[in-house]
Amino acid sequence: MAAGKNILLGVTASISAYKACDIITDLRKLGHEVTVVMTKDAQHFITPLTLQSFAGREVISDFFSVEGRVKPIHIELAKKSDLILIAPASADVIAKISHGMADDVLTCTVLASTAPVVIAPAMNEKMLANSFTQENLKRVKDRGMKIVDPIHGHLVCSDQGMGHLAENASIVKAVTDALR
Ligand SMILES: Cc1cc2nc3c(=O)[nH]c(=O)nc-3n(C[C@H](O)[C@H](O)[C@H](O)COP(=O)(O)O)c2cc1C
Repeated sequence: MAAGKNILLGVTASISAYKACDIITDLRKLGHEVTVVMTKDAQHFITPLTLQSFAGREVISDFFSVEGRVKPIHIELAKKSDLILIAPASADVIAKISHGMADDVLTCTVLASTAPVVIAPAMNEKMLANSFTQENLKRVKDRGMKIVDPIHGHLVCSDQGMGHLAENASIVKAVTDALR
């Protein structure tokens, strides 16, 4: 089993962002280093301090916050990451990645990286079923990115539905498989 890899975990603005804590713990138990990059809006759902405490290292959320940084952070991250996992992945970030957009640290790093990318979407049932989202998911799959399919479960907006973030075990397994 591949261990001791540098995994970049992208956390986006989903109600399931808190689950990133357990994902970090599970990946670290397997011997991996986890660097968290969170989107600006993700900070409404979970604090950088919480994720930093689980990851045991600095959490990165914007290009311009670190004074004295000489090299562009997304290029450094892209070079050192053996795999990029985005969990939870919002409809927004999937749309951006599928169109090659690069307007924050996470999407820039994806664009600058040649590492495998694993995406675990989480969103409202109708957002997931929307043909735009389905097309965007197909586009990223066609580019070789791995999707960990969301499941039927509790959603914040309705009692039950498709769009619930996949179980952590499935996400960690997808990472392990992609690292092989
Ligand atoms: C309470 C709440 C929960 C949300 N949950 C989700 C979600 O699970 N998935 C999703 O795609 N968007 C969700 N959104 C909308 C995103 O937060 C919004 O599209 C955001 O701008 C995405 O930012 P990001 O992709 O840069 O992280 C939610 C919004 C709110 C207010």
